[in-house]
Amino acid sequence: MTAAEFWNNMADRYAARPVGDEASYEATLAVTRSYLTPSSHVLEIGCGTGSTALRLMPDVGQFHGTDFADKMIAIAAAKTSGEHVTFSVSSADAGPDGPFDMVIAFNLLHLLDDVPRTLARVSAQLKPGGVFLSKSAVLGEGAYHLARIPIAVMRLLGKAPYVKFMNRATLGQMITDAGLIIEDARQLPEGSRNRFIVARKP
Ligand SMILES: C[S@@+](CC[C@H](N)C(=O)[O-])C[C@H]1O[C@@H](n2cnc3c(N)ncnc32)[C@H](O)[C@@H]1O
Repeated sequence: MTAAEFWNNMADRYAARPVGDEASYEATLAVTRSYLTPSSHVLEIGCGTGSTALRLMPDVGQFHGTDFADKMIAIAAAKTSGEHVTFSVSSADAGPDGPFDMVIAFNLLHLLDDVPRTLARVSAQLKPGGVFLSKSAVLGEGAYHLARIPIAVMRLLGKAPYVKFMNRATLGQMITDAGLIIEDARQLPEGSRNRFIVARKP
C-alpha cells in the first residue's frame, strides 16, 4: 500500500474524528492568526480534510490547501465554500508556486520520509519575509522512542503510516538548512511531543 493509499483509506475516519486536544488546537490557531493579515496568501500542505482551512478562511485573502490523498481533498472541498478557498491534490514536496505569505504544515513533517525535500519546496514557495508554521511530533527523544516497535508492527498490518523519529534538534536543523530562520520553537502544549515552529524566509 502506498502512503497516499493509506491516507485515502483513513479519510472518512479522519473527517469524523473530533479534535484530540481542543485547547492546544485553539492555541495553535491563535498564534497562526497573529501572523496573518486580511490579504495573506496562505498554502497549507498535508491539509487533510480541511479543518484548519475552515477555521482560518475568514482571516485570510486566499487559502489553498494541498494533500496527496484525493479523498481528503474531496472532503475538504465539500466542507468549505468561497472563491478565496481552494484545494488541489499534490504531494507536499510539489504543489503551487505561489509565492505565499504563509505555508502551514500541521501534523505532517513526521510523516514524510524526505523532510528536507519538502522544506526546500516550502522555502521556494514563500515570499521573502513569509513565514512557515509547522506542528509535528518529535518522537525521536525521551520515552517516545518506545513507540518504534508498536508502530513498526502496526505498519506491517497496514494500520499505521510511515513515521519519522525526529528530535527537536534535527527538526530545527532541517528547517535552518532550508534557508529559514526560526523565530519561535516550543512544545505545544508544553511537555507534549508536539513541536510548534515558526520560521521566516529572509
Ligand atoms: C495527520 S494528517 C494531518 C491533517 C491536517 N494537517 C491536520 O492537522 O488535521 C496528515 C495528512 O498529511 C497527508 N500527507 C501525508 N504525507 C503526505 C505527503 N507526502 N504529501 C502530501 N500530503 C501528505 C495525509 O494524506 C493526511 O491528510
